[in-house]
Amino acid sequence: ILEILLKGLHRLEYRGYDSAGRCIRGLSVSQSVCLLIKQRGKVQALDEEINKQQGIDMDVEFDVHLGIAHTRWATHGAPSPVNSHPHRSDKNNEFIVIHNGIITNYKDLRKFLESKDYEFESETDTETIAKLVKYMYDNRENDELSFTTLVERVTQQLEGAFVLVFKSVHYPGEAVGTRRGGPLLIGVKCDHKLSTDHIPILYRSSKHRILTPVPRLPSPPCRHGSAVIEHTNRVIFLEDDDVAAVNEGRLSIHRIKRTAGDHPARAIQTLQMELQQIMKGNYRAFMQKEIFEQPESVFNTMRGRVNFDDNTVMLGGLKDHIKEIQRCRRLILIACGTSYHAGVATRQILEELTELPVMVELSSDFLDRNTPVFRDDVCFFISQSGETADSLMALRYCKERGALTVGITNTVGSSISRETDCGVHINAGPEIGVASTKAYTSQFVALIMFALLMCDDRISMQPRRREIIQGLRVLPDLIKEVLSLDDEIQNLAEELFLQKSVLIMGRGYHYATCLEGALKIKEITYMHSEGILAGELKHGPLALVDKQMPVIMIIMRDHTYVKCQNALQQVVARQGRPIVICDRDDQETINNSSRTIKVPHCVDCLQGVLSVIPLQLLSFHLAVLRGYDVSSCPHANGVQRPNANGVQRANANGVRVHNESRHV
Ligand code: UD1
Ligand code: M6R
Repeated sequence: ILEILLKGLHRLEYRGYDSAGRCIRGLSVSQSVCLLIKQRGKVQALDEEINKQQGIDMDVEFDVHLGIAHTRWATHGAPSPVNSHPHRSDKNNEFIVIHNGIITNYKDLRKFLESKDYEFESETDTETIAKLVKYMYDNRENDELSFTTLVERVTQQLEGAFVLVFKSVHYPGEAVGTRRGGPLLIGVKCDHKLSTDHIPILYRSSKHRILTPVPRLPSPPCRHGSAVIEHTNRVIFLEDDDVAAVNEGRLSIHRIKRTAGDHPARAIQTLQMELQQIMKGNYRAFMQKEIFEQPESVFNTMRGRVNFDDNTVMLGGLKDHIKEIQRCRRLILIACGTSYHAGVATRQILEELTELPVMVELSSDFLDRNTPVFRDDVCFFISQSGETADSLMALRYCKERGALTVGITNTVGSSISRETDCGVHINAGPEIGVASTKAYTSQFVALIMFALLMCDDRISMQPRRREIIQGLRVLPDLIKEVLSLDDEIQNLAEELFLQKSVLIMGRGYHYATCLEGALKIKEITYMHSEGILAGELKHGPLALVDKQMPVIMIIMRDHTYVKCQNALQQVVARQGRPIVICDRDDQETINNSSRTIKVPHCVDCLQGVLSVIPLQLLSFHLAVLRGYDVSSCPHANGVQRPNANGVQRANANGVRVHNESRHV
């Protein structure tokens, strides 16, 4: 059983914890008492910890093997053994629980339980569940209370999103799992052929046969069968509020009551996927998966930091330094590639909200120039991996000169995260695809949050701050709307993929989008592509435009609108037929352009999060059509470019490594 659990955890490692081993693993194995083993670091460290345990008899045989295991990405409470899962109800481990998701009312629950003398040991939301289940058990009406009913009672008190698995010394040989708003999959492995392909639901209350239909959220697909697939490909996907129990090896599924429209059974389905595919879910490549994750990754960047009700922003990683940053002489944003573009994209709003001079620098060039840096400068290092050599060297260079250094990183425990004085983890989740996509939009949002924090006590800025914060509130939904243009963009890719070159033009907030779109196209499709500042058109680049040259223009209804319209006229005058990414309500541009990609409207300084997504999708489809994602795309037709000039690939920990094969 230990082997199965550990291997299962290994299989989940691709979902990324941090490369320096800050992730926390917990494990609990059923013996006569409940044994809880937790360790920070790699699964390997947990393995070693288990071997160190005194008193586990590895030779003892059990009739029932029952254990639960968990890997964690720290959200509530820093990475530490005590914050890791499983969480326990008390020192005797009477109840233990593992949890994915967040409990939004955990503070109220904790207050209540503390008033009943429950002592908490962690900072997590999850621990309230462990205490609550014991509270409910201790206050049960009689000894008939089943484990599933107990769990149902607990989940009725919880708000938020959760997937939970419980076990208890009071119910030996039994584990109970449930979900709401997160995926939970049960793998079914059996020596005998099953007599049915369905598991009937057991309803607790038969009084409520038919009720008015309640609108139900669609269940998120479970894409994380990777720990299960090596044991069985027969699985059951649970629905929200199902409570599943495994007791002495027998599975039952329970619901409190039946609602009209409910299916009274859960089907046992056969997964046809290979392990690699399961990791990628239903997507053809990690890059595509990560593009489509952006509604959630952007939300996760803001989670617990932006309060949309009182229009405030809290960045735990900066709070002790913000006064010092406010007093600085200038801000310098230093990064490479896509991360540099996140700096370009947010420079204007940073200048507006901080009223400080802001320089945006490519790490290599910054070092080449021996750029003067002073003690009263604040230097930001933006990096998905937190390991990019030039950015790391620039960081050390700035530290030596006494500047305050701030990291904007995705990888907890990375060199940049550790070596900066302070910073913000963007919490976008692991980025495995070679092309950076979700990290860009999360870096963008993190820098906006920083700008908002810098001016939170400036009365004159309050209307603008409110406008931006309310814009952030709707951003994840607007991203979803842009992602729904995928088919349209695929059609566009089919028209463009044989071309040699694509020019992308824009200005103001969207200059960064042009640079980033062009970088994505170059990097992934091997087509030439150039991001052009529309204000520079007449200073040379216009010569490239004719009726053959594919041109993409970005025109949004902000302060550059009239100038962008002029640029459009110049391109059209040279017989160019630009494809225009524009605001879907901008009738004038729609009428003046032969082809448009219409995106929803957002606050001007956030619009760049939306305008970049069509270009991310376009580069992905172009790559597939040009046959460049063989390693991860089973349908691609096969041309693999050997040794892609030092193309970098990210490993499961988010660290980009040089690799000879393409990994889109
Ligand atoms: C932190 C915890 C989070 C917890 C929350 C509230 C971590 C990784 N995060 O999040 O689990 O729920 O407090 O208690 O422990 N830092 C750098 N350089 C960087 C990035 C970050 O020095 O590039 C530093 C920050 O200054 C801070 C620490 O790392 O001291 C954690 O940063 P971050 O995760 O952004 O902080 P919180 O959002 O407060
Ligand atoms: O990990 P970092 O953000 O520091 O990486 C910087 C660049 O190497 C990276 O953004 C690169 O440009 C991307 N692969 C582009 O898609």
